[in-house]
Amino acid sequence: MNNITRDSFTSRFGIIAAAAGSAIGLGNIWKFPYITGKYGGAAFIILYLICIFLIGFPVMLSEFIIGRRTQKNAIGAFKSLSPDKPWYLTGWAGVAAAFFILSFYSVVGGWTIDYVIRSLTGNFINKTPTEIVNTFESFISNPVMPVIWQIIFMILTCLIVLGGIKNGIEKYSKIMMPILFILIIILDIRALTLDNSIQGISFIFRPDWSLLTPEAVLVALGHAFFSLSLGMGTMTTYASYINKKENLTQTAFRVTILDTVIALLAGIAIFPAVFAFEIEPTSGPGLVFVTLPGIFQMLPLGMFFSTLFFVLLAVAALTSAISLLEVPVAFFVEEKGMERRVAATLTTLIITIIGIFASLSQGILSNVKIFNLNIFNFLEFTSSNILLPSGGLLITLFVGWYLNRRDVEEELSNNGRIRISSLSFFLLAVKIVSPALIIIVFLNGLGIIR
Ligand code: TRP
Repeated sequence: MNNITRDSFTSRFGIIAAAAGSAIGLGNIWKFPYITGKYGGAAFIILYLICIFLIGFPVMLSEFIIGRRTQKNAIGAFKSLSPDKPWYLTGWAGVAAAFFILSFYSVVGGWTIDYVIRSLTGNFINKTPTEIVNTFESFISNPVMPVIWQIIFMILTCLIVLGGIKNGIEKYSKIMMPILFILIIILDIRALTLDNSIQGISFIFRPDWSLLTPEAVLVALGHAFFSLSLGMGTMTTYASYINKKENLTQTAFRVTILDTVIALLAGIAIFPAVFAFEIEPTSGPGLVFVTLPGIFQMLPLGMFFSTLFFVLLAVAALTSAISLLEVPVAFFVEEKGMERRVAATLTTLIITIIGIFASLSQGILSNVKIFNLNIFNFLEFTSSNILLPSGGLLITLFVGWYLNRRDVEEELSNNGRIRISSLSFFLLAVKIVSPALIIIVFLNGLGIIR
């Protein structure tokens, strides 16, 4: 691939919007609240923050280094840094993970669009909490509508990716991310002014350590990877479009902070409502789909806020989905010489088909089990808890032990033009701290060590 014609981001704001757009998604707004509810509130959040800063941030910076150094896709990057060793298999695992993740991600993405329409048309008005739970359950197990929405969600994702980096991904992220930020602030203000909001707030800020099981630790680590879009080459691919003048450490830090802040803001928007309306905080993946419509329909301008919330969720999902799709697309274009149009259409098609099965596994295919999980849960569990952490482990080991120290220094300092203050901290993190923690948490969570 010729570097002169290679597409790239055009502005610093565009880079942050796209990378934060990838990181901030259903993971922050849909998944973070329900796993926080399930694993003990504040105790889980503290653990999660430790994973984010000790492991997530160094892994993100490692991916940035690999991507910008080589200006190549997830697999090509490893091939060019290590032509005669099998490190490129890390990239392969990443491309596979992109298919896994986007297949179930697009199902939930589809649900969000359906909920935008339902809110707009007043579908939740005068429904009791139980009726709203039933609406959700009968909707996701329906064999037709969720599939149609999932296909529409994938078509939207594909259309943006077809536009390329500056005219597709960057352009849309720059519009959608500020909208998302404003929406979440409005919803936070709404939540904090509910009666009893204090109960919800204390749930996310007061730790109950007794709920912290080994499984919770594995989930916190897996979610740190998932939420920051790490361990499968998304950030490697995006960094390959970052110009040589940007400060990578600063960019990674900003993206990490933004992602974390939005997750916390989402928690603040959701838990007061959960308690105000006496919904179980541990109610699982349906949490935001049942809590919020429930509350909103009892409030003045409820339909309006409900629509706003699901638009927020759909937008967040879309800017993440494009980053997932870009990984295989960049690979097919650069390594297999495919046209972008063909690569995007082909991958969208395959992912949509797997996604249909994931969607149907909420209903008519719920009896099909892989390792005791339905198709949707299998795709989710294996990608977050196995593929991403192992990808992350390989990436840190690669940067920490294999990659030339000079490559690392030149990328972090932009060839000596900017000062790097924390090189030894970073090296310690990628050589020892992150890999050791990932291995321990991994073995522990899988029940191999206790
Ligand atoms: N980070 C996104 C979220 O929180 C999802 C996502 C996008 C992702 N790209 C990724 C997860 C790459 C893992 C790897 O919703």
